[in-house]
Amino acid sequence: MIYLDNAATSHPKPENVYVALGAFLRQVGGNPGRGGHWAALEAEKTLAEVRLKLARLIGAPTTPERVVFTFNASDGLNMAIKGVLEDGDHVITSGLEHNSVMRPLARLQETRGIEVTVLPFDARGLVDPDDFRRAITPRTRLMILSHASNVIGTVQPIEEIGAIARENGLLFLVDAAQTMGVIPVDVKFSNIDLLAAAGHKGLMGPPGTGFLYVGERAELTPWREGGTGGNSLAELQPMEFPYWLESGTPNTVGIAALGAALEYLTSRGIEHIHQHEMRLLSRLAEGLCEIEGISIFGPTDPERGVGVLSFTLEGFDPQEIGIVLDDSFGVAVRPGLHCAPATHHRLGTLPLGTVRVSPGAFNTEADIDVLLEAVQGLGGG
Ligand code: ALA
Repeated sequence: MIYLDNAATSHPKPENVYVALGAFLRQVGGNPGRGGHWAALEAEKTLAEVRLKLARLIGAPTTPERVVFTFNASDGLNMAIKGVLEDGDHVITSGLEHNSVMRPLARLQETRGIEVTVLPFDARGLVDPDDFRRAITPRTRLMILSHASNVIGTVQPIEEIGAIARENGLLFLVDAAQTMGVIPVDVKFSNIDLLAAAGHKGLMGPPGTGFLYVGERAELTPWREGGTGGNSLAELQPMEFPYWLESGTPNTVGIAALGAALEYLTSRGIEHIHQHEMRLLSRLAEGLCEIEGISIFGPTDPERGVGVLSFTLEGFDPQEIGIVLDDSFGVAVRPGLHCAPATHHRLGTLPLGTVRVSPGAFNTEADIDVLLEAVQGLGGG
């Protein structure tokens, strides 16, 4: 199989990730904080080490405990959105958001009377920071922006929007699902109060891992309460981080493997991986441009993009293209709406969506050429 669906989840993983999964289950296997025996302590240590690595990766200015483990990016986004917003608050976001932002907001519009302003993006796929400034009202509490679109891969000017949020006393939540591990993020520099990311995409860890960074300015109510391994007599959830937001047995094996993935990323270099993916994307875009009937939706500037590109082919349903690529050529892509209908609405690609191609760290030029040849065959180009 030629796997070109790394925006959904990265595959394959670095070899040391597979090794770490087995090693943790076979050799450690304890439940952190639950018991004082070696296995429990070792699991606790593993969590602390990975938490520290993540905190360093995002330049967290506070203690690593404010990096809270989640099960994916959606989990962290729900935790942040539902934990921060109060009745009648106003939120500013963009038409590039995933359903993991739009659906929690839609629910809170219905149940808590919050108001949502969804800002447009331009022909290059970028939002205008001034739109964010102009949309602020006395009721605005939160700005939410995906660092990079999961449909068209454009990287947004989060530094500028973070500065606007800070100047106006607002909280800034960044969805880094598509950028973490590929584009450097510095929460202090970009004035980010809340940052949600997946562990299984650019970070190359296993599914079931992710994190939410919670800055000092953000006050969240927990949405998951229960056992934390300590303070068992307390009736209410312990207020200290990470326990305020972490309850129940964590995905220790996944987190141990995420730690291994972070070591791989450090040794190969985030910048290097990003450049590799953008080179593949340019080759893809150049090849697609030559095919009659193709429309491309992707980053035009490699500096402002990640390895995600969408296309349509006149006369073909994207689902049909996905099936042919899979069945006849062994190429895995993701056709459809990519859980981001607002983006497709603005691109004019509803209801069928696009074919999304997302190369990863282990793809080669030859993989792209197989895809291009297959699409050329369909388009008769
Ligand atoms: N959010 C993931 C994607 O874009 C699953 O495919």
